[in-house]
Amino acid sequence: MNEHNQANFEAKIEADIFIEPKDWMPDAYRKNLIRQIGQHAHSEIIGMLPEANWLTRAPTLRRKAILLAKIQDEAGHGLYLYSAAETLGCTRQDIYQKLLDEKMKYSSIFNYPSLSWADIGVIGWLVDGAAIVNQVALCRASYGPYARAMVKICKEESFHQRQGYEAVMALAAGTNEQKAMLQDAINRFWWPVLMMFGPNDADSPHSAQSMAWKIKRFSNDELRQKFVDNTVPQVEALGMSIPDADLIWDETIGHYRFGEIDWAEFYQVIKGNGICNTERLAAKRKGWEDGAWVREGAMAHSHKQKAMKSA
Ligand code: ACO
Repeated sequence: MNEHNQANFEAKIEADIFIEPKDWMPDAYRKNLIRQIGQHAHSEIIGMLPEANWLTRAPTLRRKAILLAKIQDEAGHGLYLYSAAETLGCTRQDIYQKLLDEKMKYSSIFNYPSLSWADIGVIGWLVDGAAIVNQVALCRASYGPYARAMVKICKEESFHQRQGYEAVMALAAGTNEQKAMLQDAINRFWWPVLMMFGPNDADSPHSAQSMAWKIKRFSNDELRQKFVDNTVPQVEALGMSIPDADLIWDETIGHYRFGEIDWAEFYQVIKGNGICNTERLAAKRKGWEDGAWVREGAMAHSHKQKAMKSA
């Protein structure tokens, strides 16, 4: 029976037929998806924090309305992803608790502070830009609920990326002070954004199996390269520069070559020792505790409704 199930599963993967929640799947496939989708969901909601830091200081009402809508979109992305993870048999409460207990990760990028208004433009443009490169590929992930959640998320991320670029275009056309603020934001975010794609392929423990299962369609290095190739011309169009002395267009391969990422920094950040790790988790723990009365109220309401129905 198990051999038949395994063969059936592999045939579906081979034929690019989505695996659906009620289909048989290997335990390791299920576990790997809960890990990745759960981390992805956590990233969406932790990612609200650096942007929320600028909500009350957005320079105009228009910028504030856009930023508010964008942050709400990120909450929605987190909710689709928690729902997708739940279709695999985990509970939202369990994986959320694992985030609070530092037993599950979230994206390294959100452990960097948002120090200036230019950072908010750069987060939309570069951080969400990197997220799209990764997530467009995930629209074809082999697990149906994850792939379908990605389609809507990508549409919204694409709007986020464009609004970010529009915000940085305004700064790039502004005063010398605004240009310097933008350059400073690019300098601080460039390398951490490249780290979002994960370790180099040779050092990525999950990649080979995730590629075989078609959860990942492209490797970490392939997606990072795609992002660099897309983004360098955008930086040039702004009249800004990239903080990488080794960055060069290589005509023979048709790609940019870029310098070595500081992997020691990456591993420190994902171990919990980044600039904002403690602050981010403290904010989430406080939110969870402060929201206890809402959960209790919702449960009490639900029990009352059930009691009324059965009476
Ligand atoms: N930040 C934090 N942890 C990371 C990062 C990162 N940027 N990159 C890799 N890691 C972790 C992995 O989660 C894994 O840790 P684990 O075994 O404890 O789970 C370890 O480093 C080794 O990495 P890989 O073997 O390369 O892991 P994986 O195959 O999962 O690839 C990747 C990492 C590319 C991030 C993948 O999980 C993915 O595509 N996730 C979905 C996209 C996502 O989460 N985006 C979040 C940011 S976008 C946004 O929210 C706006």
